[in-house]
Amino acid sequence: MSKVSDTVQNSAAFYDDIASDYDVMTGFQKRFVQEKPFFNLLVQKYGITTALDAGAGTGFHSLLLAQLGVKVTSVDSSAEMLKRVKAHSREMNLELKTVRSDFQNLREEVPGTYDAVISMGNSLAHILSREELRTVFQNFMLKLNAGGILFLQLLNYSKILARREIIQSAKEANGITFVRYYEFCDPLLKFNILRLETKNGVIEHTLHTTLLRPIVKDEILSLLADVGFTKTKVSGGISMEEYQPMKSKDLVVLARKE
Ligand SMILES: C[S@@+](CC[C@H](N)C(=O)[O-])C[C@H]1O[C@@H](n2cnc3c(N)ncnc32)[C@H](O)[C@@H]1O
Repeated sequence: MSKVSDTVQNSAAFYDDIASDYDVMTGFQKRFVQEKPFFNLLVQKYGITTALDAGAGTGFHSLLLAQLGVKVTSVDSSAEMLKRVKAHSREMNLELKTVRSDFQNLREEVPGTYDAVISMGNSLAHILSREELRTVFQNFMLKLNAGGILFLQLLNYSKILARREIIQSAKEANGITFVRYYEFCDPLLKFNILRLETKNGVIEHTLHTTLLRPIVKDEILSLLADVGFTKTKVSGGISMEEYQPMKSKDLVVLARKE
């Protein structure tokens, strides 16, 4: 039996549908080993005691920060992703607050201010217009304490667009193959996840599709400056290596609220 849908879903419906596969697809456990040392440094360097994880997904960064003693609020628009955050926090005996909200509504729906706002794993590419992105950055600014930091991780779309990189990744885990690929529909991208699983010799396939807006460095820097962020630094990965437009896998941005 196979289920194929060419329907483009909004991001909440898309992530609700793929939530049960997300950790397998992204290598949840492996990421702790790779990313923990860097977040440890970040927490120490900026004296982070509270953080808002915007687009928390299944909670990887929220849990990592909670392990480091940070009080975390995990925000996501997908109820199914947030269920996984809660399940992980119970399993790991860590306390977290979860709020179902869109980035666009953080101001009204998420109480308090924080030492850090993070938005990792390309979550901001789900914001489909420049004006909405400006609103999101304004909301991030409002959610920060004075001196607080904003930390963003996106894929490096300068490279992806220049090279027309269709296949984002292909991965086999627990007998299931996930192919993440793009269709270029300028100015947006269709982001597809094709899931292939063999059962009794038959390949079952499911396709999920949502839209992304490929945001590049200059736009991010200009919008961050517009809404008042300063001391903005760009790098090519979370370990703050040099950003190289045609080489780096990621675009990572660190900015400050004065
Ligand atoms: C690619 S996942 C990244 C999750 C996590 N940060 C990580 O690194 O694994 C993107 C997440 O952003 C959430 N998201 C997308 N658009 C959103 C919006 N406008 N408001 C809140 N969450 C959103 C999705 O539901 C999804 O969980």
